[in-house]
Amino acid sequence: MSKKVMIMDTILRDAHQSHAATRMRTEQMLPALPLLDEVGYYSLEGWGGATFDTCMRFLHEDPWERLRTLRKYLKKTPIQMLLRGQNLLGYRNYADDLVDKLVEKCFENGIGVVRVFDALNDPRNLQASMKAIKKYGDQIKAKDPTRGICEAAISYTTSPVHTLEYFVKLAKTYEDMGADNICIKDMANLLLPFDAFTLVKALREALRPETKIHLHTHNTTGTGDMVNLMAIQAGVDIVDTALSPLGNGTSQPATEPLVATLKGTEYDTGIDLEKLIPIANHFKKVAAELEKEGSLNPKVRQVDVNTLIYQVPGGMLSNLMNQLKKAGKEDKLNEVLAEVPNVRRDCGYPPLVTPSSQIVGTQAVMNVVMGERYKMVTKETRDLFAGKYGQLPMPVNEEVAEKVLKGEKRITYRPADDLEPEYEKLKAEVIEKGYYTQEEDVLSYASFPEVAENFFKWRKAKDEGVDSDLAKTGVYPV
Ligand code: CO
Repeated sequence: MSKKVMIMDTILRDAHQSHAATRMRTEQMLPALPLLDEVGYYSLEGWGGATFDTCMRFLHEDPWERLRTLRKYLKKTPIQMLLRGQNLLGYRNYADDLVDKLVEKCFENGIGVVRVFDALNDPRNLQASMKAIKKYGDQIKAKDPTRGICEAAISYTTSPVHTLEYFVKLAKTYEDMGADNICIKDMANLLLPFDAFTLVKALREALRPETKIHLHTHNTTGTGDMVNLMAIQAGVDIVDTALSPLGNGTSQPATEPLVATLKGTEYDTGIDLEKLIPIANHFKKVAAELEKEGSLNPKVRQVDVNTLIYQVPGGMLSNLMNQLKKAGKEDKLNEVLAEVPNVRRDCGYPPLVTPSSQIVGTQAVMNVVMGERYKMVTKETRDLFAGKYGQLPMPVNEEVAEKVLKGEKRITYRPADDLEPEYEKLKAEVIEKGYYTQEEDVLSYASFPEVAENFFKWRKAKDEGVDSDLAKTGVYPV
């Protein structure tokens, strides 16, 4: 039986986020869009928190306008986005009314597939967003079954509690909450090829036949192509790749080698390699431009085996080294690396992804540098123990919790339950400041208040004929 593999290309989002600090501009995407639309991808990833932030902060672009432009040219291929559960596109918990409004506007402006995840894998942090995705997505899906898709992602990590059983149970929970697709999100490239095979096989057996399994990995440590190939043999439906000019290294494994590998096999993607050549040629030029302007450091293309050796994600390791350098204790790296799993165990084994990777890493550094464990703690460590990020995979170490919390109240309910509705309040603020042009402005402002305000100032100056070049050169701090 043929088991066609589908591909999501990340060239418009994760590829340039990983290689070039998310600096690709809409005009650099435009010439390739009609060609990308003809390839036959499952979806094209084009939007997420970082693209949203960078558009306004550095590129003087309205992220909503970018989305509408992508949708205009991508007539056949669904646009996929990444949503951080209750944190939406930003870094704090938002009230449920804002979650609902943002999801509504994402679909309205052209999103076809929403990938939603929580850093701690707490399903309660996906409740509101998944409810909204179903509410608006199901209407779209009724007309076009390739759009309006709810994809719930598991943040992949390794620890004694992150077993096959744990991931299968979590995936089934998300499926019961209404997910059309289950994604394994391996942002740190921690997933190894044979583990990918076992995990996908177990998920395939446990999930409903109509639920698609989607794998997202990176090629940071050089295992990405093997991870994808093993997952494909285990029955994965969709894998993420990036066209070669911005593929491999810290980005996704490249698209073309996988298409060629699967050609003529039972997994054939149906993608014509010839069609990818002119698109890759275009993005080669774009990559060269990004390198020239200093957004792309060619080092990102190299294989970095540190994660394989130290069992911590690459970004976390460089943070640890920087913090030790600042403290003048670079010789303590091995002690800190040994302390990381201890801190992780104390706080109930959070996945080592943003933000918990930073929290655990910083605390491990403090524990070693201070010479006494938890003598000093950050606010973030305290919040993690207090349940403010959500439920941890395992109970915390009570002795440590007492020392860290010093009597501070813990919460066991969904963190967003504490929040009052906020959309109307924020809307009034944007109107009062004189920046309101569309409902989407309120969502930009909610996501990145300062960045959005600076962008609105610039936009206003431009629209009112004030010297916009002056604005661009830094009259407004961006
Ligand atoms: Co990624």
